[in-house]
Amino acid sequence: MKNAILGVETSCDETALALYDGQNLEQVVLTQTLHEQYGGVVPEVASRIHLEMLPPLFHELCDRVGWNPARLDSTQIQGIAYTHGPGLLGALLMGATFAKTLGWALRIPTLGIHHLEGHLAAPQLAPNPPPYPHLALLVSGGHTQLIAVRAFGAYEILGESIDDAAGEAFDKTAKLLDLPYPGGALLSQLALNGDPHRFPLSKPLMGKPGLDFSFSGLKTQIRQVIERQGPDLSAAIKADLAASFEYTVVETLLGKIKRALDVFPCDDLVLSGGVAANQRLRHSAQQFMASRGGKAYFPPIPLCTDNAAMIAYAGWIRMTGSQPEQDPTVEIKVYARLPLLASQ
Ligand code: KG4
Ligand code: ZN
Repeated sequence: MKNAILGVETSCDETALALYDGQNLEQVVLTQTLHEQYGGVVPEVASRIHLEMLPPLFHELCDRVGWNPARLDSTQIQGIAYTHGPGLLGALLMGATFAKTLGWALRIPTLGIHHLEGHLAAPQLAPNPPPYPHLALLVSGGHTQLIAVRAFGAYEILGESIDDAAGEAFDKTAKLLDLPYPGGALLSQLALNGDPHRFPLSKPLMGKPGLDFSFSGLKTQIRQVIERQGPDLSAAIKADLAASFEYTVVETLLGKIKRALDVFPCDDLVLSGGVAANQRLRHSAQQFMASRGGKAYFPPIPLCTDNAAMIAYAGWIRMTGSQPEQDPTVEIKVYARLPLLASQ
């Protein structure tokens, strides 16, 4: 590892650091489990864990590549890219402060990166990266967006969720099925043994034109089924509910992808964000794109959910290109809300 970009990701409940030098990647990700007992992410707790864990994680990362963290120079790390939004303000501040301080101490440039640009770039770290332009479906705990990606950094949002994000709907439905937070991945495991057609659910907004999504009604439909079934749901009913929910979300996402390809015709589809780890979604998207003579691309599974490798990659492109970008100020600026295009 030489002339690497250090990536720092702390927008929510993953404390993550990564090194990327254009070829080699090394990363550490700590998923904060303390939030489970509260049934959701507690912002203040998230910030505190970022604060405590960033230094030891940085030491671990240095260990992995054989560096002494007390004797670093710019031939090892040439710049630091950190997530500056959107996300939890306090959590973002911890990563930004860490990045800016280390950058100042090592006298190397720093740059804030849009979290969603990171997710969009994550499939570029797969063995078979997607070409540009492509249509991207970003499905995470906080976002559900269809994006025309003309090139790295050239994005146009075609549609997005008007209420809950897809991952949020997975997590809320998982909670209704008594699964611990965040239940998305557990729900999809449960769905493996279920019948996706046992409980027909209506597909949100599919009857209306447009590319926006709405998932909060789906969760309500599940709640109503549960109320009709009465308390003490059997394991079989829970599995059928999980499968019916997952099937409906995937079919809805595919329906909108199909419409988006009418307005932004292309052969390549990228899925990214936490929900892109979902096997039914991956499989269905692959089949759908193949049926049109196209192809679907995904990040490697560990790079679907929040990580710093995607931030280091986006930082690498922005900081080492023909017009290298950096933030020369010592100000620490983070943004709870940040439109994707504002980062350009
Ligand atoms: O991208 P991410 O780590 O966080 C945000 O930036 O929001 O995505 C986390 C979301 C959670 O809602 C989680 O339940 C969901 O991704 N998720 C899944 C799966 N794995 C993670 N949802 C469905 N199926 C999965 N296999
Ligand atoms: Zn994310």
